[in-house]
Parts: sequence; C-alpha cells; structure tokens
Amino acid sequence: MSKLILPALVMGAKLAFNKWKNVPAPERGQLIKVFGDVLRERKEELSKAITKDMGKTIRESRGEVQEAIDMCDFAVGLSRQLYGLTMPSERPKHRLQETWLPLGIVGVISAFNFPVAVWAWNFCLAIVCGNSVIWKPSEKGRRSAMISFDIWAEACERAGKKEFVSLNQVCFGGKEEAVEVARHKDIALISATGSVEMGKIISPIVAQRLGKVLLELGGNNAAIISQHADLDLAIKGCVFAAVGTTGQRCTTLRRLFVHHTVYAEVVDKLTSAYKTIRMGNPSDEDVLLGPIISKEAYEKMIGAMLEAGNEGATVWYGGGFYNADEADKYGPYVYPAIVTVDKHIEIMKEETFAPILYVVPYTELQEAIDMVNCVEQGLSNSIFTNNMNEAEQFLEQAYSGIVNVNVGTSGAEIGGAFGGEKDTGGGRESGSDSWKSYMRRVTTTINYSGEMPLAQGIKFE
Ligand code: UN1
Repeated sequence: MSKLILPALVMGAKLAFNKWKNVPAPERGQLIKVFGDVLRERKEELSKAITKDMGKTIRESRGEVQEAIDMCDFAVGLSRQLYGLTMPSERPKHRLQETWLPLGIVGVISAFNFPVAVWAWNFCLAIVCGNSVIWKPSEKGRRSAMISFDIWAEACERAGKKEFVSLNQVCFGGKEEAVEVARHKDIALISATGSVEMGKIISPIVAQRLGKVLLELGGNNAAIISQHADLDLAIKGCVFAAVGTTGQRCTTLRRLFVHHTVYAEVVDKLTSAYKTIRMGNPSDEDVLLGPIISKEAYEKMIGAMLEAGNEGATVWYGGGFYNADEADKYGPYVYPAIVTVDKHIEIMKEETFAPILYVVPYTELQEAIDMVNCVEQGLSNSIFTNNMNEAEQFLEQAYSGIVNVNVGTSGAEIGGAFGGEKDTGGGRESGSDSWKSYMRRVTTTINYSGEMPLAQGIKFE
C-alpha cells in the first residue's frame, strides 16, 4: 500500500469520529436502522457478490447477508442499552458508577469465508458505540466489500447524514496492509478474524504498542454422537456443519466422536447423506456445495488426507477432485471427505480449512470429551444426546467459547457472544455484551458529602 493511503484513511476516520462520538447513542442507532433497511433492499445484489467473490452457495450467501441485517436490528436495540453499573460506595454520600465511552477508531481485519457478516458484527457494534472503522477486507472479498461500502453510503445519504459516510474507511490489500493497520497507533482496537497463524502475527504487533486486540481465530471443532442421540437429527446437524461453506467456516465440524455401539450405523448414514449433496455452480439455487477457495486449499486438503493415511486412517468417502465445468470460473471442486480412524491422530490437531471430517469411535464419554479438548483451538463443540447427564457433563468440560447440545458446531445466531478460547484467541463478537470490547469503561466516584473520607478507612491527617 502506498505509504500515504493508511494515514489518509486514519485522518478521515478521526475527523468522522470526532463528530460521531457526540451524537447520542439512540440517534446513532437510527443510522444503523437505515443501514439495515438498505441491506434488506440490496440483499440479493450483495449475496450474489459474495458468491462471486469466494464461491459459497447463493443460499449461504443470503444467510450471510441476513446475519448482517440481524446485526443491524441487534445494534439498534443496543443503542438504548449501553448500560454502566452503579455500585454502592463504602463511603457515606459517595456514588460509584461506570460510564461506557467510545474507543475511537476500530480496525477490522476480516477473512474471505465471511466477507460481509463478520465485518457487520464488528461494524454495527463499533458504530453504535460511537466509533469509526477502518476495514481491511480479504483480497477475496473485494466485490462484496465495495457493495457493502456503497450500501453504507446510501444509508448515510438516505438518513440525511452524509458526513458520516467516512465512519467506514475501507483499506484494500493483503497481509502487508493488515500489518500496517495493526501497527497504527491511532487505531484503538484491532479486531481480527482469520487463521491462528495470522493472529500470532497481528497480536504481538498490537501488543507492542499496547493497543487493544480482539481475535477470532481458527477453530478445530468437534461433536460427540452418543448412544443416547437421535441419530437422524445428529446426522443432519453434522452434515451441514462439516460440509457447509465447503468446510471453510471457523465453526466447521472437523472431528466427530461416535459411541462404538452406533459407530457403524453413523458412518453408514453419514456416507448416504454425503452422496446426496448436490455440488456445482454456487450460483445455482439447488446447489449445496460450491468450490473450495483455491488450488492451495485443495492441495492442503489432499496433503492432510495423505498424512491421515500415513497415521493409519482410511479415507472412507470422497476427498477427490470433482471435474466441474465451473472449475475455472470459481476454483477447484472437491468431494467432501469422511476419514475414519480408530484413535485421535496428529493430523486431526491441525485445522485444515477444507471439508474433511475425521470420525473416531469411543467407549466412555470422558474419553470422548478428552479428545474434544486435546487440540489447541477452542471455538465450537457439540454433543448429540438425549441424556441430560451427558449433556451437562459436556457443557461443563468442553473447553470452547461455544458449546452446543443437539445443534451442530456451525451456524451460530448473532444474539450470543461469538468467539473461543485457547488458540482461537479469546475474543467475543456479535451479540450478548460483546459491545463492551468496542468501548472504554470509565469508573467514577462522586463525592457529595462535603467531607473527604478516604477509601479503606485510611486517615491522612
Ligand atoms: C466464521 O467462520 O468466521 O456460526 C464465522 C457460524 C456463522 C459465522 C461463522 N454464523 O458458522
């Protein structure tokens, strides 16, 4: 990036922030409301752009834009609920309270796989909290970033708030630009989504300047199917989680632990379900599985399967190259793979961003929970069981930000806080009280006693 671009974007974001921070939060919410209206009107256009950009199916692209719309609705309500607490003071006639104020400029680095929704999680909260945003989209999300920006500009115009278009500064580029954004000392918070590798580069850069960081990195998610599960329901949940978005969600199901008494039946049912998945041009309404993002991603998938083979696993189904006419236009197509193996092997510790599902039998629930937790990542894990005791044990022990019962690992609603533990980075985005990451907390003591008592009962006279 030219050395002049980022400073100019920061300058624009700063000027916009200086005005925006003084706009009352409920009024900020009204601009997000109009943004949601325009997103609704232009949903189809934006969905098509996402599909063109990175090849997810049009059905899933619509889901992604819906996620951005839901985020707008959430942020509008939030604009009247940026609450601070009031605590009882230990001193007479004193009040102890907290106020939440905007941070300033928020830097958003987003990934190819959710080019719009993840930006919207960050953007809607950052804006409603009174910040401005510098967005570094993925290079594979250019079209959708441009349309998203245009939708924002249209919303500002329609709301009679044209001067706030510059709350959203888009910084195109790749790794170098991401590093530059992370390094800039005027960007108060860096919210980054991507691989663990990327997080390990960005995080120390921000830490070096003592900036704030919010990370949503890789997952290596697992599900348990117990002997007490409704198997048909479990299969449906697992197939979407493992195959949806061609295995390229951070929430994708990658490891499946199945009670040995139902193992053969589950593998059989999974295989039948995989055979029915319609692959092809992601713009076609009926298609459930589009291409994978790149040749390198395909090669990594093949590499992981070979490695699994070396470790004693069997590629039970799929994994091959699917020769589609659209391959040149969109990228390589792969058959989603089911890899069976009798124990947790090394390659399963890696998050291969492709549709490979490792399936392993277990005997004791504890053994399965230990396998769920034996990887470095901790984003989303699920159990399929109708046994309450098993579900509760799992909830308590699965070490991840999202823990589901009878629901797959992917496809979270925006209302909950989204993010994970361990190498996933610890950040929380979208719903619940994630907004707090986009504000600074001010603790205030107000003395209306006319005296000067000190805390902890200290006497200083
Ligand atoms: C991601 O892959 O980075 O829960 C986000 C899900 C989606 C978001 C995924 N709502 O699968």
